[in-house]
Amino acid sequence: MTLERDLLLASISDYLEQLGEEGLDGLETRPQPARPAAPESFPVSAENAGSPRPAAGALPVSPVSAPAAAAGFSGALFSPYPGLAKTCTLEELREFIGDCKRCKLAQYRTHLVFGTGNPRARLMFVGEGPGAEEDAQGEPFVGRAGRLLTDIIERGMGLRRADVYICNVIKCRPPENRNPEPDEVAACQPFLDRQIDLVSPEVIVALGTFAAQALFNERTPISRMRGQWREVRGIKAMPTFHPAYLLRSPADKRLVWIDIREVMKVLGLVSPRGSGG
Ligand code: URA
Repeated sequence: MTLERDLLLASISDYLEQLGEEGLDGLETRPQPARPAAPESFPVSAENAGSPRPAAGALPVSPVSAPAAAAGFSGALFSPYPGLAKTCTLEELREFIGDCKRCKLAQYRTHLVFGTGNPRARLMFVGEGPGAEEDAQGEPFVGRAGRLLTDIIERGMGLRRADVYICNVIKCRPPENRNPEPDEVAACQPFLDRQIDLVSPEVIVALGTFAAQALFNERTPISRMRGQWREVRGIKAMPTFHPAYLLRSPADKRLVWIDIREVMKVLGLVSPRGSGG
C-alpha cells in the first residue's frame, strides 16, 4: 500500500470518527428557523425615501444568505466543538457556550461578553475583546470606545445601536487588557464564526488590527488594510480603525468616516456616488 493511500485512509477514518462524535452535525440539512418579524427602524437614504416602501421586514434585516448558510454548513464538518453547528439561534449558541472554561481567560472574567443587538441585523461590528467596563456589564462596547462606536452608528450612520449587531473576537477580558493570545483566539473563534453565520449580515465592519487580522487571517497592519473590502464567510467585510485608537488619534476619524461611507453605500443608505444621504 502506498504512503498516499495510507494517509488518505487515515484521514477518512478520522473524518468518520468525527462525524460519529458530532452525530452527523455537518451533514445537517435542516432549514433555518423562521425569523421573527423585523423592526421598522432601519433608516433609508434620502434618495430611497421617495421610492415605494418595501414590505415591512424587507429592508431592515438580512435574509439568510446562501453563502453564509453554506459557510455554516461546511464549517460544521470540522468544528472543534461537536454540536456547535446544531445551534440555530443566538440564544442557542449562547446556551451552548455556557459557563465557558475552554481557555485560560475564564478565570479572570466577571461576565462572558457574548454580543448584543438585532439578531437579524444587516450590519455587524466586530471588535477585539471586552475591556473592564464590558467585563463588568456583560455587554460589548459600553466604555469610552463604545460610546464613540455608538456615535458612529447613531450620529454618523443614522441608525440605532439596537439595529446593528455588535460582538468581539474573544468573549472574555484578558487580564490587564493585554492582547489576546493565539490559543485564546483559537478557542473562541468558532463561536464568532457561528455568530456570523446565524446573524448573516450583509456587511461586517472589523474594528482595529486585532479583529481584522483574526477575521481575515492575515497580518497586514490595519493602516494598510483599512478602506479595502474583504470577504468573511461569504460576507462583505470592511476593516477600519478601532474607536479606542480614534480616541488617541482623533485626526483619523476622517478616514473611518470614508470607510463607513463605503459601508453605507453597500447598504443603500447613501447614494453610490457619495453625494446623497
Ligand atoms: N474594545 C473592543 O474591542 N471591544 C469591546 O467590547 C470594548 C472595547
